[in-house]
Amino acid sequence: MKYFIETYGCQMNVHDTERMAGLLEQSGYDPAESDRDADIVIVNTCSVRERAEEKLYTRLGEIKEMSREIGRNPLVVVAGCVAQQEGGRLIKRSKGVVDLVVGTQQVKMLPMLVKETAASRSELFMVDGRPWRPEGRIAIENPYEDPSFPLGIVRRGDPVRAYVTIIEGCNDFCSFCVVPYTRGHERMRSKAEVLAEVREAADSGRREVQLLGQIVNHYQAPDDPSCDFPALLEAVHEVPGIDRIRFASPHPRHTSDRVIAAVRDLPKVCKHLHLPVQSGSSRVLAMMRRRHTREEYLDLVARIRAAIPNLQLSTDIIVGFPGETEADFDETLSLTDGVGYHSIYSFKYSERPNTLASKRMPDEVTDEEKTRRIVALQTLQRSVQSNLFQRSIGTTHQVLVDATSRRHEWELTGRTSGNTVVNFPGPPEWLGKMVDVTIERTGPNSVWGQAVGDPR
Ligand code: 5AD
Ligand code: SF4
Repeated sequence: MKYFIETYGCQMNVHDTERMAGLLEQSGYDPAESDRDADIVIVNTCSVRERAEEKLYTRLGEIKEMSREIGRNPLVVVAGCVAQQEGGRLIKRSKGVVDLVVGTQQVKMLPMLVKETAASRSELFMVDGRPWRPEGRIAIENPYEDPSFPLGIVRRGDPVRAYVTIIEGCNDFCSFCVVPYTRGHERMRSKAEVLAEVREAADSGRREVQLLGQIVNHYQAPDDPSCDFPALLEAVHEVPGIDRIRFASPHPRHTSDRVIAAVRDLPKVCKHLHLPVQSGSSRVLAMMRRRHTREEYLDLVARIRAAIPNLQLSTDIIVGFPGETEADFDETLSLTDGVGYHSIYSFKYSERPNTLASKRMPDEVTDEEKTRRIVALQTLQRSVQSNLFQRSIGTTHQVLVDATSRRHEWELTGRTSGNTVVNFPGPPEWLGKMVDVTIERTGPNSVWGQAVGDPR
């Protein structure tokens, strides 16, 4: 029996995919080359924006078409945030395409649920800790109820970087965000579990670890009162074999001087912060319930820059939040220009179910206007990024090679500590090696260079 998983959305989902793959392989399934060869097709979904959600329904239509072509029906599973949000409705709305719906906190149950669904060939969903059929609740045995059973069993998909979740869920309730509803309340993983996973990642050859959480710097170990986020960074830093530590995403409000000092003083911690700002207007930030102002954010950026001059920043920005005026948007433009982000992720606001904004704030900026704003923002960012890239020409950086491709010759891709994507010619054996690369020219979203010296 073979499985195929496709993943949408954030790194949290990428990591859940690795966990599902690990669990399935442990129960005897093998990975398939494509959905056409698979007995189980899993779509791991994202619902953070409406567009991400629409993709699922398009994809399910394609899977239905594919089943007709290959003349058999693989078991179709929907996991991730849309699964959590829609539950049993997905089975109805997909009209027979979806066999099983697995919520974000039921990943460990996947092998059991697959077995049960395959045996009965009747639809099943589990999003709240109890399995249901469309006609009512059922009981199945769950060997993973045992609390000593590790969350792990991960089949690492990336040969170089390992993702380790340190916090699941979120309690912040920013008014635009669906995550507290799809991923549940905030749960801290124990320091012992986190460190065990980091060691396991190092033992399996991963040189980079990325710590994940919706508000990753809110960490407080449940098993060690003295271990907050900066202390966890120190503990991870001690693990032999790990050469780079990243984390996503910190919240500006929890980016204390101790967090800044840890990033500055721990050499393995990459000199990059993805620090979501969402808007440059204090008025909009208040409506978003971000709990910081424009001035506080800029002050934080100034403190970070003073402490770590070579650090690179990136951010997330939403345009067209309900009530965002032209003047508010201009403040987003001026903040973007002033901070000088190496990259930004920009989104048109989309109303999400259950959120405060969907209940209290009508989605009043027209789509046309949102498009105009996002185009203006992206145009500005292109010139900000291009200036920063230009200035990097002639400088040399340590690049950890994470991908290889072949066009005319072998081409390698990796990232600097600051998270700039660098392409350069080199042999495929350098995958996973640290190489010094001198930047020679710039492109959209990445730069090109030449290796100097020997890889390590
Ligand atoms: N509309 C648009 N963008 C959103 N994001 C989260 N929710 C929404 C929404 N309702 C963006 C935020 C967040 C990123 C992951 O997605 O910028 O940081
Ligand atoms: Fe998407 Fe958020 Fe879910 Fe990640 S946690 S998959 S970004 S909705």
